[in-house]
Parts: sequence; C-alpha cells; structure tokens
Amino acid sequence: MQPIFAPFPATRLRRTRKSAAIRDLVQENTLGVSDMIWPVFVCEGTNHSEPVPSMPGVFRRSVDRIAQAASEAFDLGIPAICLFPYTPAELRSSDCAEAWNPENLTNRAIRAIKAAVPDMLVMTDVALDPYSDTGQDGFVVDGEVVNDPTVAALVKQTLAQAEAGADIIGPSDMMDHRIGAMRQALEKADFQNVMILSYAAKYASAFYGPFRDAVGASSALKGDKKTYQMNPANSDEALRLVARDLSEGADMVMIKPGMPYLDICRRVKDQFGVPTFAYQVSGEYAMIQAAAQNGWIDGDKAMVESLLAFKRAGCDGVLSYFAPAFAAQINGA
Ligand code: PBG
Repeated sequence: MQPIFAPFPATRLRRTRKSAAIRDLVQENTLGVSDMIWPVFVCEGTNHSEPVPSMPGVFRRSVDRIAQAASEAFDLGIPAICLFPYTPAELRSSDCAEAWNPENLTNRAIRAIKAAVPDMLVMTDVALDPYSDTGQDGFVVDGEVVNDPTVAALVKQTLAQAEAGADIIGPSDMMDHRIGAMRQALEKADFQNVMILSYAAKYASAFYGPFRDAVGASSALKGDKKTYQMNPANSDEALRLVARDLSEGADMVMIKPGMPYLDICRRVKDQFGVPTFAYQVSGEYAMIQAAAQNGWIDGDKAMVESLLAFKRAGCDGVLSYFAPAFAAQINGA
C-alpha cells in the first residue's frame, strides 16, 4: 500500500516530527521491558559472581545468585530469563553425559529460579557445546558432527530440563529434526505445555566470540560450526528452516545473531506471522559496550536504538544482555 502523497508544500513530512508530543503520537513501534528475554551465565559456587571480561557489565553467577538476579529482573518487569552454564572443565567429556544430569548447573538453576520467582519464564539452551571436550554443539565422529546420535542426546537434555521445570526449551544446536524429536518426547513424557523456541535460523557467526569465552568453550573449539550453522550469505534457506521447525512443533522461532540479520527477521515475520525473536548476541553487546566505554558512542542511546530496531524488523521480543540495563532505564533507576 502506497501512502497518499500530495506534492510539496501540501505534504511536509517534518510537520509530524516537530515536537516530542507529535513524534510520540505517530510512533509506529514501541519497545518495552516485557519484550525482553535476559540471557545469563551460571557457574559453580555459592554467593559468587565473576565478571566476563569480554562482556563488560555481564557476570557469571552461582545458582543462588542467579535466583536472586532473576527475582530482581522480574521485579523490573523482565518476563523471561535464559540460562547458559559455565560447566567446570572436569565435567566436559566426549559422551557429554553432564548435559542430561538432573543435577547439572542449568537444572539446579531452573529449580532455584522457579522456587524464588514461580511466575518468571525460564528458558534453557539445548546443545552439547558446554559439556563437550570439542566445543562443538554435537558429537564428533571421525571429524564430523554427527546428526542423529546428537539429536538423541539433545532429547535427553530436553527431558531433564523439562523435568527440572523449564518453561521454554531453546535448541541452539542446528541439528536436523531435533524439534520433531524433542516435541514427540515431551508429549510422551506428559510435558504438553513445555514450549520450544527454536533457534531456527542460526548463522555461523563471528559475533559469538565473547559468549564462547563466557561459557569457557572458546579454547576447546576446534574448527568452525559451518556444517550446521547457516551461511551468512543465505536468506531463502532461513525461511526453509523456519518452515521446517514450525512443522515439527516449534511454538516460536529465533533469528541469531540479531542486528546483522534484521532482513531475515522481517522476512520470517512477514511469511509466517508466528512469534519471532532475535538474539542480540554477545559480540553485538560487546561492540556497543566497547564503543561506549571509549566515549565513541552514547551507550544508553545506542542500546535503546539497537533494541528498537528488532521491533521495527517485526520481532515480538529480543534476547539481550542489555535486558536489566534497559529495564533499569525504563524504570527510571
Ligand atoms: C551454542 C550457543 C552459542 C550462543 C548461544 N548458544 C555460540 C555458538 O553457537 O558457538 C551464542 C550466544 C551469544 O553469542 O551471545 N550452542
């Protein structure tokens, strides 16, 4: 639909930009705290937190501290939190058994958060990289990340998380048919209401660097993830992945990274009209923080502008390390 466009001076587009009041009145998209999912890093210990050097303002927290942080975040209006474990080196192995240990960091954190803030949504990460000695998201056999045995392991990981009380399962592994396998297993185990937010279009990106530091996977990672994560040059393929994951039982889909892939967010939303999320990943966060720390950009403004862009691109919400800072800003703290 083309807007009616009378020639100048009948049309002066600056009229509706003249004051804050009219700008607010005609604003097309809004960003609220309720659009945020906050990704956090869990580590061992008690009453302990440690900064992640490549992500200024981000901490790894022990389970008790995570529950406390979740509770504070929920009070600020953040509806959901997403857990990533910093698994101790001695628990990383080629069989990745720690991934489905009911007592692993993620599962303990799920229970602690659910006990402290029952109404907060707890989302998990499903992938083997925090538990493997290769840093890959799946099992490696003869140098290849093998699909079907990995999916069987991801299903065990999913069920352990559902058992611990997870609301939203977040498969970030990019194996084929993992959504279908997880959905069937969840149904069979009577977890009909557990949601799946599929990392449907996840690209093999250089923007994950700081995250791999945060979960201790960067030194382990041999090679790259290009046989399962997407080629950054592709766009149609993202639509096929989203269609496939929806057909297998995903409730919501994610595009990752965020800012360099806003075109994908828009295409997915237009084509499918399903709940669509973007992950503003560690490298995007680190770039903004680094520039702000150098005084090169206004960090608070860049944060809001970057987050609002996801809404404009059609997303319903955003996973962002900025969630608490954004909530604090909105709440006038
Ligand atoms: C791995 C995983 C990654 C992220 C979330 N889950 C990194 C990777 O694929 O290597 C990245 C998140 C971020 O960069 O913030 N399963």
